[in-house]
Amino acid sequence: MEMKIGFIGLGIMGSRMAANLQKHGYRLVVFNRTRSKAESLLANGAEWAASPAAVAGQVEVLFTMLAHPEAVKEAALGQDGFLAHLPPDALWVDCSTVNPSFSKQMAAEADTRGVHFLGAPVSGSKTQAADGTLVFWVGGAALDLVTCWELLNCMGSKIVHAGGPGMGAALKLVINQLLGTTMAAFADGRLSVLVYGRDLENSVQATGGYNYYPYPNGSDAFISEPRTFGIRISKKW
Ligand SMILES: NC(=O)c1ccc[n+]([C@@H]2O[C@H](COP(=O)([O-])OP(=O)(O)OC[C@H]3O[C@@H](n4cnc5c(N)ncnc54)[C@H](OP(=O)(O)O)[C@@H]3O)[C@@H](O)[C@H]2O)c1
Repeated sequence: MEMKIGFIGLGIMGSRMAANLQKHGYRLVVFNRTRSKAESLLANGAEWAASPAAVAGQVEVLFTMLAHPEAVKEAALGQDGFLAHLPPDALWVDCSTVNPSFSKQMAAEADTRGVHFLGAPVSGSKTQAADGTLVFWVGGAALDLVTCWELLNCMGSKIVHAGGPGMGAALKLVINQLLGTTMAAFADGRLSVLVYGRDLENSVQATGGYNYYPYPNGSDAFISEPRTFGIRISKKW
């Protein structure tokens, strides 16, 4: 029988990642708190499940891509949570950005139910999610990574096995930390430019500003969208 893949969490990132699995021919069973975000996947043949538990009853591999640890916990262990309903030996891949101790806790919860678990948060944003060029930072058993390698390859262009449970989350948070501190330094430099009375954009470009900003759109995005990556997004505890 053809394998069905479960996908829970169809926001900015999850909807695009699930669409890439679909483009590669995988059959999807999906759930999202807000059903309207699933419409384009459903129009392309995905099946809707009425709850996280209802997804779990139909799949052997399940992806989650949710906002924060509380949302993951609710989907996995809350009322109608999926964890108690996944078949033994199923694989749960959590791509949400969470903190390392939470990821370890979910690995342990999965283990007590005979479910395999990988924490696999991503670097890249909605463009990379749409293009299938995300980077996956994976924490968990190497054999479980082998099981889902082809699936991750549909959604990303680089897969890093960071180590055991929680290590993918740890590396991902280091990336966020670098992003945050780089932006703070850039903002500081920007302020100095203004204090010295120079034109901001010319100064940024004259000093090679495109290399300062870690997003592909370079310093233009920083100047036009100064709150792109706020503390609210990077807070994961
Ligand atoms: N956006 C990026 O550039 C980016 C890049 C790398 C990593 N990430 C990480 O990827 C994850 C998803 O981000 P996103 O940008 O796709 O966020 P998003 O568009 O806000 O989607 C968040 C998802 O979580 C669900 N959710 C939120 N709170 C919930 C709750 N209390 N109960 C159940 N479901 C809940 C949302 O459901 P509804 O649709 O019903 O709201 C939605 O499916 C986050 O962990 C984020 O840090 C994001």
